[in-house]
Amino acid sequence: MRIYLDNAATTPLAPEVLEAMMPYLKGHQGNPSSIHADGRQTKTAIEKARRTIAQCLGASIGEIFFTSGGTESSNMALKCSIRDLGVKRIVSSPTEHHCVLHTLEQIKKETQTSIEYLPVDSAGRISLSDLEQALKSSKEKTLVSLMYANNEIGTLHDFERIARICKENGALFHSDTVQAIGHFPIDLSKTTVSFVTGAAHKFHGPKGVGFIYINGDNIIKPYVDGGAQERNMRGGTENIYGIVGMAEALDLACKQMEDRTRKIVDLRSYFKEQLQHNFKSLLFNGCQENYLHKVLSVSFPPSANTDMLLMLLDMDGVSASGGSACSSGVEHESHVMAAIQGNPEYKTVRFSFSHNNTREEVDLVISKLKKILS
Ligand SMILES: Cc1ncc(COP(=O)(O)O)c(C=O)c1O
Repeated sequence: MRIYLDNAATTPLAPEVLEAMMPYLKGHQGNPSSIHADGRQTKTAIEKARRTIAQCLGASIGEIFFTSGGTESSNMALKCSIRDLGVKRIVSSPTEHHCVLHTLEQIKKETQTSIEYLPVDSAGRISLSDLEQALKSSKEKTLVSLMYANNEIGTLHDFERIARICKENGALFHSDTVQAIGHFPIDLSKTTVSFVTGAAHKFHGPKGVGFIYINGDNIIKPYVDGGAQERNMRGGTENIYGIVGMAEALDLACKQMEDRTRKIVDLRSYFKEQLQHNFKSLLFNGCQENYLHKVLSVSFPPSANTDMLLMLLDMDGVSASGGSACSSGVEHESHVMAAIQGNPEYKTVRFSFSHNNTREEVDLVISKLKKILS
């Protein structure tokens, strides 16, 4: 039996979610744009899913749009805010996910938008006074793009306070909340934010489906032309089973959040204790007081096998990750570790947990690590 400790890359589908999806995979074949009964049936399922997701986030149903996942949603927020909302300047950070950083690089090449990155400290935190200063220093229409929880090191940005600072300074705020949705309580009726993004596969839903929340004050034009789906915003036949599965997964994640969190926090601290007890000179990356509980990023000092640590763990039945899961399957130096000035001589492994993991699995991984690193 393999041990899966890569839940920040993706999570296994919850059995309840598969069950909810099955009728749409097997029988309910209607195209939601068709006006006959089969079409109306799947259209109803999509709108029910939208209501569930809106309720989980304190949003209204008109503010939720389905997409293919976190990457598309962030592309949409950043690009549409320039095209449709008059944004001339974007303030972000160097530890954002590539779906933001690469989009910003592209925006820089193709438009006159100015892009600024706030510095981060050795734990990956920005300073809120730096953000305030950056916003006060310019009269240009600005969008702030800062993630809620870092996928590699687990550091949290202060979502509520950033939202307040943006509001006070007349800036729009986009947050990549992909790692946070379903893991932290988020109430958008209490926090002013322009865009947030979600991906079902990070909270035990299916892969290839996500959503964007667009605050009702921000009227943007269609992102994908060619059909009237998603109220004209994203043409193309909807991923019905994905959408139904995502709503079920988020509903479950919100209902079970306390229990899941308690279990994951316990696993993470047990794993950290065991690592500290059994190995010397480890470095734990990211903020250790306020963090995304499912992530434990640890750097191992150089020794005979550290370079091959991930591969040896994999061969011994353990799935973990070097930094973020890389879309090309090749491990590159992590931009997050570079931004926090991690020691390049050390080998960084991201272990990430779900409520499905157990202390017994942690014990097994520790014994495998001992064997590999002895
Ligand atoms: C913080 C963060 N943002 C965005 C994404 C991209 O999401 P998706 O794979 O759904 O496009 C990921 C996935 O790794 C992520 O961790």
